[in-house]
Amino acid sequence: MRVQSLTVDVVIKNGLLVLPSGLTEASIVVDEGKIIGIVKSGEPKADRVINASGKVVLPGMIDMHVHLRDPGFPERENFESGTRAAAAGGVTTVIDMPNTVPATVTVKAFEEKKKIADRKSLVDFGFIAGAGEIPEKDIIALADVGATAFKSFLIARFKELAASDYTLLRHMRTLSELDRPLLVHAENSNLVDSYMEEAIASGRTDPMAHCDFRPPIAETEAVMRCLMLAEEAGAHLHICHMSAGGSVDLLEWAQNGGQMVTGETSTNYLLFTEDVMKERGPYAKVDPPLRKKDDQLRLWEGLNDGIIDVLASDHAPYTKEEKERGWDNIYDAPSGGVVIETTLPLMLDAVNRDMIDIERLVEVFSTNPAVMNGLYPRKGDLMLDADADIVVVDMDKPFHIKGENLQTIQKITPYEDMKGKGMPVMTLVRGEVIYEDGQVIGRPGYGAFQRPL
Ligand code: DOR
Ligand code: ZN
Ligand code: ZN
Repeated sequence: MRVQSLTVDVVIKNGLLVLPSGLTEASIVVDEGKIIGIVKSGEPKADRVINASGKVVLPGMIDMHVHLRDPGFPERENFESGTRAAAAGGVTTVIDMPNTVPATVTVKAFEEKKKIADRKSLVDFGFIAGAGEIPEKDIIALADVGATAFKSFLIARFKELAASDYTLLRHMRTLSELDRPLLVHAENSNLVDSYMEEAIASGRTDPMAHCDFRPPIAETEAVMRCLMLAEEAGAHLHICHMSAGGSVDLLEWAQNGGQMVTGETSTNYLLFTEDVMKERGPYAKVDPPLRKKDDQLRLWEGLNDGIIDVLASDHAPYTKEEKERGWDNIYDAPSGGVVIETTLPLMLDAVNRDMIDIERLVEVFSTNPAVMNGLYPRKGDLMLDADADIVVVDMDKPFHIKGENLQTIQKITPYEDMKGKGMPVMTLVRGEVIYEDGQVIGRPGYGAFQRPL
């Protein structure tokens, strides 16, 4: 232990800690928001002693793919509601995506979002800036004010964020110099649009049409194109929300060739296959769409073998009303789900079912996102001098997901009525308990802006 002050702020006693070196039974000593000791005995006196025996203690989750809709769509979500849900879901840092209104493509929009989040956020936060077609000087300026990464879409869904191949290549060159990753939404625009027209022309507007008419090639072609551009530019490419098994194959191939490319997936694709569309309809509609069993198996393999480096929620809320429209015509409902609060419990349940081990879960949902967004070692591991962002989990605590119980504005979830075992029971951000015994007790404004170190 570093300092032996008379009384420290918090001691989390006798938990099973997931440390960089593995699982260890020990206590964590916290003072002034930092981890100042990890000890097996001789804990100092503390203002608060938390008994974690029988519990597993993790570094806080860093969700690097959320859409908190603020500013822009207050009826869908905002920084307060979204980070209340984060707290309840063991997420201690959220990194917000740029498709807000205005889109985060200028320093002005970046600073405006920062003011909003500063006032409302219960957990720490960072921002991904939009690259789209913006000039190089704005990329540099946004990196300068603290964007942790940049994002571009290969489809035109959010017009400020869509990038031509030429611009992708140019931005990758600039970002490789700035040492920040480019995140891509990799779907082939022409295939996506034309298949959708074909679906509608043939009268297929049932939920399953979204999957049948948005095939894996629409994703894998875009992934391959991005890989080639990134190799040419020598840039760090990160592929968001991978859904297709073929994308994992391509990523593995590029990594084996020595390229710095990373990939991400979410519980949407790990836990659901396309048949879920029949039962859950628009609530399970996401872009890219849900896939088949083989794709799902390959995603799990990629996640466990170190090909897919990041798990993120892709929390993308819409209103119940917007979603309900999709029952009659799936193309009338937007893609995206309310998922930030359920990602950790669902993954803890997967740990209980031996689908992933707890150390790997911590790597993909905390350590790697921290590294990739330039926040490591301040965040992303339980270690000396790191921020005391900590989640205590009860691996035996059952859950039963009900939209009505969520902290988000919209009380809907693609996972309605799913049951499992493994729940966060306490969340601390920089040493402050913000969630305990089912209650969010953090306050808006506590969350602090995080920029790359
Ligand atoms: O399903 C999705 N929803 N995919 C995206 O890429 C965007 C997101 C959203 O913001 O609604
Ligand atoms: Zn996307
Ligand atoms: Zn997204």
